[in-house]
Amino acid sequence: MCGIVGILGKSAVATQIVDALKRLEYRGYDSAGVATLEDGGRLERRRAEGKLGNLEVKLSEAPLSGAIGIGHTRWATHGRPNERNAHPHATEKLAVVHNGIIENFRELKEELQAEGVRFETETDTEIVAQLVTKEILKGKSPVEAVAGVLPRLRGAFALAFLFAGEEDQLIGARHGPPLAIGHGEGEMYLGSDAVALAPFTDEVTYLEDGDWAVLSRHGVQIRDLKGRPVERKPQRIPSGTFMAEKGNHRHFMAKEIYEQPEVVGRTLAHYVDFATGRVKLPATLPFDFKTLKRMSISACGTAYYAGLIAKYWFERLARLPVEIDVASEFRYREPPMDEGELALFVSQSGETADTLASLRYAKAQGQHILSVVNVQTSTMARESAAIAPTLAGTEVGVASTKAFTCQLTVLLCLAIAAGRARGTLSDKDEAELVDELIRLPGLMAEAFKVEPRIEALNRDLARATDVLYLGRGTSYPLALEGALKLKEISYIHAEGYAAGELKHGPIALIDEDLPVIVIAPHDHLLEKTVSNMQEVAARGGKIVLVTDARGAEEIGMDTLATIVMPTASPTVAPILYALPIQLIAYHTAVFMGKDVDQPRNLAKSVTVE
Ligand code: G6P
Repeated sequence: MCGIVGILGKSAVATQIVDALKRLEYRGYDSAGVATLEDGGRLERRRAEGKLGNLEVKLSEAPLSGAIGIGHTRWATHGRPNERNAHPHATEKLAVVHNGIIENFRELKEELQAEGVRFETETDTEIVAQLVTKEILKGKSPVEAVAGVLPRLRGAFALAFLFAGEEDQLIGARHGPPLAIGHGEGEMYLGSDAVALAPFTDEVTYLEDGDWAVLSRHGVQIRDLKGRPVERKPQRIPSGTFMAEKGNHRHFMAKEIYEQPEVVGRTLAHYVDFATGRVKLPATLPFDFKTLKRMSISACGTAYYAGLIAKYWFERLARLPVEIDVASEFRYREPPMDEGELALFVSQSGETADTLASLRYAKAQGQHILSVVNVQTSTMARESAAIAPTLAGTEVGVASTKAFTCQLTVLLCLAIAAGRARGTLSDKDEAELVDELIRLPGLMAEAFKVEPRIEALNRDLARATDVLYLGRGTSYPLALEGALKLKEISYIHAEGYAAGELKHGPIALIDEDLPVIVIAPHDHLLEKTVSNMQEVAARGGKIVLVTDARGAEEIGMDTLATIVMPTASPTVAPILYALPIQLIAYHTAVFMGKDVDQPRNLAKSVTVE
């Protein structure tokens, strides 16, 4: 994680660097810093603990005027998130910013300490600064020094270097996490992604894994892992791709929750032929659903829960067995995979380190790789045989909302396509499902009517130290997602459980202080869930029931609150019921005064494992 930026400009660059860092805050906000070369090529830094605003204050008190510089916004891995550990890390020869982890930092540190090097910080990054400095002190040029040090570093990292006295040179290196180069007129840029560079240029070159680049104001020379010069083609990023404004909303999260009818509609228009009532996949898939014996899904966080719901769909609609695992387990479990099957990955960012590593593992096992991604220029998109894009637009809130419902929409379309190809869905079944999907954006818009009812729960939920979420079938992954959302932004401990598992443990937790949120649309499992609700009620648990009119009538129980959703078919219900789940977490956290867009300790794009 962490965001890195470098600018070779024509005049003072510190403000531009901070602007670019603001666009990278989704990668972490534990501390931030900037280093520039001041008169005569002297290195100067400003660093501050916490969010970028603190760094801006420092820069206004002591401005920097250099026309070349690097910057960083941190998600702490090694060392506490204080100013001392904030990047850039520097010696008298250079400053460096880093995203990722240097895994062999202990042995390198011991080696340097034995030679008498004293360390100022607890970070792994300072080792890089010291190793390169050592080479420069031996008389090597910055380029030679970096070339000598990179092969010694193990782990996943992106680096940007600024050298004292070198007013026309930045060096960037990519080993794992992405790094992009921006081409300007007489100016050049480095950034963790094209989003950071969007205010300056729309011409961007993505470094490939193992590449490192030497930038001057007039161009860039890229070398591969072995030091051989390589060509990487610049791409034009369409204007407006990364625009994200809060509009009239208080938070990006609120705006993104409210955008869902629109972005789900937009995504649907891409996957459904409204005239014929058929699913149309935007790309030709390099495999046939018909001949698959099984498929696997892996992802992290909210994307994983989208995958878990998709498992129910693929198995029910296409009778295709699905194995699913969180990517951090999948990659190290090294599961046996029969060649020629499908491995599907779900990711908003397309950069999540564990998901990417799982993708590479599956590829090596001869799987067809299909990724459902939101960022179409991401590493996962580039490394997949086919992608099924979600058209959620830029998601800024760290807690994923609209990306989730768009992922579900795409996954359901894929499951319908699989069902058709495998002969488990008829023309009529497909037409009915498509009809339900087409009605979905309208139902989502209508669902916002439940918001006041949800807001009224603030006080009860904010008082709780634990909250339980229950659901069956596709409502079970939704219960997991609901608990995750609440944890992420309100810091209240929450657990999601399959309602049937209640009696195997969590029932012991139930008393008058434990809110239990039950997700139970009217479907074939409703009766079973009602039994579980009775078990909760009998023990004094406070139930918040999320259901539809028919469900509310049939259940007919006393609850703390019953949220009555518009009626949807059981298949599309999980997409619709994501909304109240998100709103419950959002309003509770806002009521508690939490920073819902940038919750503590989290980051939006997790490029470390
Ligand atoms: C982080 C984010 C989550 C996201 C997860 C997976 O934990 O905070 O919102 O679901 O990463 O990210 P991805 O980009 O792969 O969907």
